[in-house]
Amino acid sequence: MLKSIGFYKVKIAIFISGNGSNLKNLINHSLKKNSRFKITLIISNNPKAKGLNFARKFKIKKKIINYSNVKYTEKRILIELKKNKIKLICLAGFMKILSKNFIRIFKGKIINIHPSLLPKYKGLNTHQRAIDNKEKYSGCTVHYVNSKLDSGRIILQKKVKILKNDTSKSLSKRVLKHEHVLYPKALKKILSNL
Ligand code: GAR
Repeated sequence: MLKSIGFYKVKIAIFISGNGSNLKNLINHSLKKNSRFKITLIISNNPKAKGLNFARKFKIKKKIINYSNVKYTEKRILIELKKNKIKLICLAGFMKILSKNFIRIFKGKIINIHPSLLPKYKGLNTHQRAIDNKEKYSGCTVHYVNSKLDSGRIILQKKVKILKNDTSKSLSKRVLKHEHVLYPKALKKILSNL
């Protein structure tokens, strides 16, 4: 029945700055038969982001936006989002901070993945700080984006044990694997409430 009336998929834009492993993973999930979302736009502030290769590979529209003037840049991003009928923004390793104004315009429609057990370790170098503080666990969190850094409502979280010999590198590699499970799960959770 659903097939005959066309299955509605939520159009998503993914914002990246680097490797794009979360992007790649979300693209793969979007291609699954019963996926509720479609990634139709990739935005990067970094022209050298490795993740941009996935735009080419999967034939997804990409925009590289120079962030030298935030106001002008965000205006351009908003035009692209509107043009592409984007309903949800997923930040995936996007290392720029969106302005309050931008977040207000897209209120409740921006989510982010962060490599820590929020509210602990907001910001950068999360794993190193967790190791230095002799935490037993690190992890990852998918949360809504609000005007305070890494502080929006939590959607899902996964604890990951810190091992005795963990370095920031080994821990981040292990947590990243869990991010790839957590992000699609969190998306599924919020999309089923749309
Ligand atoms: C991920 O670990 C993500 O949680 C983190 O950047 C990495 C991006 O990896 N995000 C942040 O630190 C945001 N504050 P990816 O480019 O391979 O998806």
